Amino acid sequence: MNLKGRDFISTQDWTKEELLSALDKAADLKKKFKQGIPHRELPDKTVFLFFFDKSTRTRNSFEAGITQLGGHGHFIEAHTSQIAHGESPKDMGIILSGYGHGIAIRHDLVPGEGNRYMREVAKYAEIPVLNMQCDVDHPFQMMADLMTIREKFGPDLKGKKIAVSWAYAPSYAKPMSVPQGLIMLMTRFGMDVTLAHPPEYSLMEETLATAKSNANESGGRFKIVDSMEEAFKDADVVYPKSWGIQSMFDRPEEALEISKKYKHWICDSDKMKLAGPDSIYMHCLPADRGYEVTDEVIDGPHSVVYQEAENRLHTCKAIMALTM
Ligand code: CP
Repeated sequence: MNLKGRDFISTQDWTKEELLSALDKAADLKKKFKQGIPHRELPDKTVFLFFFDKSTRTRNSFEAGITQLGGHGHFIEAHTSQIAHGESPKDMGIILSGYGHGIAIRHDLVPGEGNRYMREVAKYAEIPVLNMQCDVDHPFQMMADLMTIREKFGPDLKGKKIAVSWAYAPSYAKPMSVPQGLIMLMTRFGMDVTLAHPPEYSLMEETLATAKSNANESGGRFKIVDSMEEAFKDADVVYPKSWGIQSMFDRPEEALEISKKYKHWICDSDKMKLAGPDSIYMHCLPADRGYEVTDEVIDGPHSVVYQEAENRLHTCKAIMALTM
């Protein structure tokens, strides 16, 4: 399968076969990394890493990943570049295509902007555009999550239940792209996906429609409920995390006041008892400990958060190696 030159902006843009071949590649690179076998598959190649938002896992998995593949990553805070003076995505896409081999962008905090911006860069770039998280999807996180779920439950996920739930967090209005990415991707693999959130926290309509259509096509299920407890019942995977109110990302103080009504939306050991005995607890991190989740759960036997975070490196390297 030849994926050279392909953009990776949403998992939805790739076929299931293409996604699975990337996961095979990630498993191979994971094995090599752990055994200390060199895998310099992108010697002398450069990826430009543009961040409009903060990051720990994404930045470091890309920078460490490209180094281990024999290339180099340029970390760029968007506000220090000419983007801040209004340079167009077209000019940036064309010019950087002459300098290197991949353009990766994180632009996730303004609903309606990030995905559109990346697709505009991609329209003009001659090198792959990689989405390090936008307002719609977080495809590199999704690949690490799918890899982790398959490591736990095997390749056939048909009928496995995943609860994607909103949870309270006071730190900041987290992007909507993780729950949206999860409902779109896990329905494609036949999973029984239940989304739970208080009324104010509905996700983007197009992602809900995509999840429904994916579930119909794969034989999976997709439903929305208004209780974390209901979503968790008999779940194999629970993925409770916070996100912001779509219409209020520009009014964080007001949104935080609304969220305080839902402090009881925390993943604790009582809620974990509703899930299956072999269930796993997932979170893309960073988590607001003591708010989104108790220490007992995130540090407990069901939690796979560190394996999940580690898989960010291997999936990131796989997609760079295949596309760049
Ligand atoms: N999960 C994730 O994307 O982490 P960072 O925000 O630290 O990159």
